[in-house]
Amino acid sequence: MSTPILTAVAWPYANGPRHIGHVSGIGVPSDVFARYQRMAGNRVLMVSGSDEHGTPILVQAEKEGLTPQQTVDKYHRIIVDDLQGLGVTYDLYTRTTTGNHAKVVQELFLAMHRNGYVIPQRTRGAISPSTGRTLPDRYVEGTCPICGYDGARGDQCDNCGNQLDAAELINPRSRINGEKPEFIETEHLFLDLPAFTETLGKWLAGKTDWRPNVVNFTRNLIDDMRPRPITRDLDWGVRIPLDGWRDQPLKRFYVWFDAVIGYFSASVEWARRSGDPEAWRAWWNDPAAQCVYFMGKDNITFHAQIWPALLLGHNGAGDKGGTPGPFGELNLPTEIASSEYLTMSGSKFSTSRGTVIYLHEFLAEFGPDTLRYFISAAGPETQDVDFTWEEFVRRVNFELANEWGNLVNRALSMAYKNNGAIPRPGTPTEADEQLKAQARAAFDTVGDALARSRFRAGISEAMRVVSAANKYLSEQQPWKLGDDPERRDTVLHTALQVVQDANTLLTPFLPHAAQKVHEALGGTGVWAAQPEVREVEDLDVPGKINPIITGDYGAEQARWESRPIEVGRPLSKPKPLFAKLDPKLAETGPDFAPIK
Ligand code: MF3
Ligand code: ZN
Repeated sequence: MSTPILTAVAWPYANGPRHIGHVSGIGVPSDVFARYQRMAGNRVLMVSGSDEHGTPILVQAEKEGLTPQQTVDKYHRIIVDDLQGLGVTYDLYTRTTTGNHAKVVQELFLAMHRNGYVIPQRTRGAISPSTGRTLPDRYVEGTCPICGYDGARGDQCDNCGNQLDAAELINPRSRINGEKPEFIETEHLFLDLPAFTETLGKWLAGKTDWRPNVVNFTRNLIDDMRPRPITRDLDWGVRIPLDGWRDQPLKRFYVWFDAVIGYFSASVEWARRSGDPEAWRAWWNDPAAQCVYFMGKDNITFHAQIWPALLLGHNGAGDKGGTPGPFGELNLPTEIASSEYLTMSGSKFSTSRGTVIYLHEFLAEFGPDTLRYFISAAGPETQDVDFTWEEFVRRVNFELANEWGNLVNRALSMAYKNNGAIPRPGTPTEADEQLKAQARAAFDTVGDALARSRFRAGISEAMRVVSAANKYLSEQQPWKLGDDPERRDTVLHTALQVVQDANTLLTPFLPHAAQKVHEALGGTGVWAAQPEVREVEDLDVPGKINPIITGDYGAEQARWESRPIEVGRPLSKPKPLFAKLDPKLAETGPDFAPIK
């Protein structure tokens, strides 16, 4: 049975190139998941885009002396290349500055507003006493009132992950010039979160099978249901479609409000581009669809609390009731697959602290699959992980090259040398049958793990098949069976069958290598599809060109099943699958990120 699966991936801020920490929670896990689901025959819609509003953009623009628009144009393009290079198969990777996004955000907002879930409130906003200008929350820094961390920002504490208001910070100061901000009265629109206490509480209480780190985090969310401002005093963002607000130059939606709606607006944009503008409904209105969200842990609140509340508000399904908005009853998240942080020597990857490994440099030197492997096998799936070059070298040399690369190479070169084609097997022994059965059984165990976003478990089960096959070859010693060609061919046939199965099991993790193994086994055509960058015209702003990521994933041949290899299919001379890394790298690091 084919299930619609929405793979919703957190939207990176278009304020810099991506580093490898960014993609440990979004790019890699989401793509492994989406590729597996497509191979298993499900209908995947994978959407994301660049998050282009809010103060993170304004801060960067100021730093570079660019306008906000120039800043997002520059970095959106860079991020598109970064993510395409990693092989992330988005159906649509778009941006939040499209005409479609603004329209969808406004329509969804109006439905929530009609249902009574938006309330205007007077609040205190920070201004800079020396300039008289408003000081966005993110520009205010101080001590977190919840955990006591001193580097908390006025919108959020990065230490405990809680959302904050600048006025709550202890000892607030401006991040621009250090002065103490003044707080003045200003009017904003608030999401009436308390009006979702029952409905959201009930929904969250049912989510016991989420990852333990996410369940732990969400347990306390329901105790913190205060009204949340969804507008800001800014001149960069989506306009507020209400009389008295629409034309105010300094009132825009808060960046997080418009960004989470991006999952939905991108699905609508994808449908409009597909030729069937209603096609998004299969993922958003069908209650049988699964909606799985990928992100880093500082995003959990917004996905497990704010976004479901917005959806319930639109649907008229919060504690105050109401009627569904123009999009019908929209699905809430099925799963929040949040990762922890990838750190380097203990500190969260951060451009400001200078411990940064940029994705494009990493990909240029080591290729995408080594990083995809490292993050899947040793990434921060349920706890923070320190990235070290030593561990990277160890994983690549001993697991990818020695185990998987070596198995492919041994099996293929012997068969190529002796037969030039896939050999015909004789009667199998128990050892042959056992190995093949182990590989076949792995489709269930690995598949179950991947369907539940347990990537570490999935890849280690797949690698167990690889180890078993290596052990099998060492025991059977086909190189010594020159005087028993029938037995030798049986052993090689068995090994090649298991190479093919292991390659299928590893395809979601290592799609680029998987294509090569497919070809080395004599296959042709697209085994694992890759995403493309395209320049398209904005659907609502004529003449505006947007780079996007998309792809034709229906053309790929990979299926989640053991497929019998074809006797007699010609083989080509195998090339090494993974180059071994110089062990010195573990001590020095690469030139672009030397170990100090
Ligand atoms: N830009 C945010 C971040 O990098 C993530 C936004 S996710 C979305 O933390 F859902 F809001 F888009
Ligand atoms: Zn805190």
